[in-house]
Amino acid sequence: MPSRRCCALVVLFAGIALSALAQDGAESARPHLGTPLGEAEIARSSITIFPDGRNLPAGRGSARGGAVLYRERCAACHGDSGREGPAARLVGSDGLFSFGDPLRILRVRDHPLLVLSVGGLWPYPTTLFDYIRRAMPHNAPKSLSANETYAVTAYILHLNGLLGMDAVVDAATLPRITMPGLTRTRDECPPDRPCTGDPCVQ
Ligand code: HEC
Repeated sequence: MPSRRCCALVVLFAGIALSALAQDGAESARPHLGTPLGEAEIARSSITIFPDGRNLPAGRGSARGGAVLYRERCAACHGDSGREGPAARLVGSDGLFSFGDPLRILRVRDHPLLVLSVGGLWPYPTTLFDYIRRAMPHNAPKSLSANETYAVTAYILHLNGLLGMDAVVDAATLPRITMPGLTRTRDECPPDRPCTGDPCVQ
């Protein structure tokens, strides 16, 4: 028995020593992937625009100018009027479903029959600018200049009846447009009940 206990101890110490070695080895054998980002690269990704308009870039664009851009860069996927698709519907709040994803209707909690579109549900015009600038056109994201993004944002707001064709938007005027979606959506973190942590896991 004593000799078995001795063996067990040797195995235990050998195990501890080996695991310490393995940790040292792991440190030096780390793949060292990635490189530190430069200021310019960080600036390219740090482009969040807040509902109140914070971070909107300089520049301006008219709905009329946006109409031309929309025909060239957006209509193929979103349809001439922003309703036809085949990609996500951008205009109107009538009808039953979004062309982009008919099943999304099943995921809307409070307004199951409300069509999902910018004009139907989006609460802030500034989010529209943010989304277009970072994600559209789908086949060439981040390819639009600030002026082009203002223009096409204005045109989509025009298609939704929220702006005239001669309207021009910039960092001062865009946040002042009130979207129909503001009263149709719920703020998960209202000022009187601010969220702590991630609202998605509360
Ligand atoms: C190659 C096809 C394509 C082109 C071109 C394109 N889009 Fe899109 N767009 C999509 C798809 C697909 C989605 C849905 C993306 C998703 O839900 O992840 C989308 C979603 C959107 C949305 C969000 C709609 C919502 O309610 O979810 C907006 C706004 C939008 N596009 C605007 C534009 C604008 C403005 C342009 C032109 C500058 C443009 N898109 C060009 C394919 C395209």
